[in-house]
Amino acid sequence: MAKDTLHLKAPGNWINDPNGFIYYKGKYHLFYQYFPYAPVWGTMHWGHAVSVDLVHWEHVGVALFPTRYEDQNGCFSGSAVEHDGKMSLYYTGIRYREINPENIHINEEGYDAAQIMISSEDGYSFDNFDGKRVVLPAAENMRDPKVWKDGSDFYMILGGSSRGKIGSAVFYRSTDGFNWRYISRAQSEKFGAILECPDLFKAGNDYVFIGSAMYFARETEGYEHYAVCMAVGFDKTRCRLRLPDEYQYVDYGLDLYAPQTNIDAAGRRVMVAWMRMPKAVEKKGCVPWNGMMCLPRVVEYEDGHIYFRVHPAVDEYFGKEVLGQEKVFGNASFDEDAGGADSSATEKFGSPAILSGKPLRIQVTLNSGECLDIGGFRIWEERDFIRTDRKAVFDDICGYRMMSNTPRLHGRYKLDIFVEPNLIEVFVNDGEYVISNVVYGLGNRICGRVERVFAGK
Ligand code: FRU
Repeated sequence: MAKDTLHLKAPGNWINDPNGFIYYKGKYHLFYQYFPYAPVWGTMHWGHAVSVDLVHWEHVGVALFPTRYEDQNGCFSGSAVEHDGKMSLYYTGIRYREINPENIHINEEGYDAAQIMISSEDGYSFDNFDGKRVVLPAAENMRDPKVWKDGSDFYMILGGSSRGKIGSAVFYRSTDGFNWRYISRAQSEKFGAILECPDLFKAGNDYVFIGSAMYFARETEGYEHYAVCMAVGFDKTRCRLRLPDEYQYVDYGLDLYAPQTNIDAAGRRVMVAWMRMPKAVEKKGCVPWNGMMCLPRVVEYEDGHIYFRVHPAVDEYFGKEVLGQEKVFGNASFDEDAGGADSSATEKFGSPAILSGKPLRIQVTLNSGECLDIGGFRIWEERDFIRTDRKAVFDDICGYRMMSNTPRLHGRYKLDIFVEPNLIEVFVNDGEYVISNVVYGLGNRICGRVERVFAGK
């Protein structure tokens, strides 16, 4: 079976959201929305991967696939919880109201969504034929159950929409994980027309809410849907959730979506998310693949701000220092008139390291106005923002945004950059903000000043 290091990628064909992320019996299990037949979205299965350290992943096959009336058109997103030693998965079963005669895998005419549970004794075998149990009957606009235990109660938060217009989150509670009671609903006109993949967890004395808001950014080029997060008031007795107006993006790049969190082996809140890719990666002799996960990130709420930090397992992996002092490679510039990045820089640094698919970690604190060019992907400081531009490494794919930026940074521009052939993740100021962007055709030169560089062990 396929293996991945650092970023979990589609093992051929298509993946989207992370599902059922859990540390269970000494291993991390990460399931994912999976269409096993082509590198496009279609009838959803749950693919399954396992890791001992959040860095080395092994794909172990398909865990869930349609078998019932209620999930005949797909097993949509959901979550995992451990109870009485078993792993229980909760997901949304989809049944299209009409079948598209041209393509049975997609349907835009509406569907029914039932919430379904399935348990496993070992976290590997799931009885798709006899083990599924519908815990909430089919309803419109309700999906992506995130379930957690608090004391003797189970809580479920579902994503949805009020009248197809206002993003909402719906709460159910249960004492046994099978029988669920509706408790409350929260909604806000601020967060799109539909809130997908909601997540809610305690961070210190506060709660953090994460949701993926559909039709949130109608005015921009490219994706309209983005993942947002915010500190919220939550009264667990009545499941009263107050969604404030202020929010942060989970990531300030263009591609991250549908994050899911859980607790890692050391009790940290860890997040993974889907990196959307506008086209499949194709290599001769390999099945084309589309979709990958971001690096695992530790979520912390401090002084009114939500941080997404590099997970210690990633630090551990990048243990090989290949450059331990400041070095300047050629000259990079964000000013097109000045010629952009200086591609005439003669020194090739670690070129095979980038192009051979081996990941790199590059650290530098930028000065005001300074620019770094990594294989054509540019990162620079301008007017107190960190900005990035992927134009040169996006294969001329039309209709997508190329530029990203953080909010204002108040003079601190410390960057911790993770580079892979198809993904660049820039952690700014120890996770104050992260900018992650999918790229294609990254070059092998670094231009600009770097301070430290690490390769994987
Ligand atoms: C988010 C999402 C979920 C749904 C799944 C289907 O990307 O639309 O709401 O469960 O993907 O693949």
